[in-house]
Amino acid sequence: MNKVLVLHGPNLNMLGTREPEIYGTLTLMQINQRLIQLGMELGVEVDTFQSNYEGALIDQIQQAMGNYQGIVINPGAFTHYSIAIRDAVASVHLPVIEVHLSNVHAREEFRHHSVIAPVALGQITGLGAFGYECALRAFAGRFSEDKS
Ligand code: DQA
Repeated sequence: MNKVLVLHGPNLNMLGTREPEIYGTLTLMQINQRLIQLGMELGVEVDTFQSNYEGALIDQIQQAMGNYQGIVINPGAFTHYSIAIRDAVASVHLPVIEVHLSNVHAREEFRHHSVIAPVALGQITGLGAFGYECALRAFAGRFSEDKS
């Protein structure tokens, strides 16, 4: 079975109580449970991981090589400045979809730029938790095309 790793960056463990007017009211656990359930429906195994630490996320990206067929990542604030996460994404030869709950382009200027996006397969921004589902569905579609 194809496997997708879902990575959540800093402060996303606070979802549910963190600025709900921007990020919604679902907790990270609820989002993850929905993704695991959707994965079952789509025939994709989903693992999830959250960290507030850049190095822990990099370790996960590196270890994904050979173990997963795709990564969904919301790098949180690291999106805007972590060259180290960008380099990890670029080095693993895996398709990576970047997801943001909020529309980063409609917010402060420092959120408009992603250092990850140029090395990602694509970026989904502003759709709330549904953005993760879109990313997972995109991977499921790609996996089924690979088989045919
Ligand atoms: C975010 C947007 C980032 O700018 C912010 O630092 C986050 C969350 C989002 O999902 O909208 O932590 O990645």
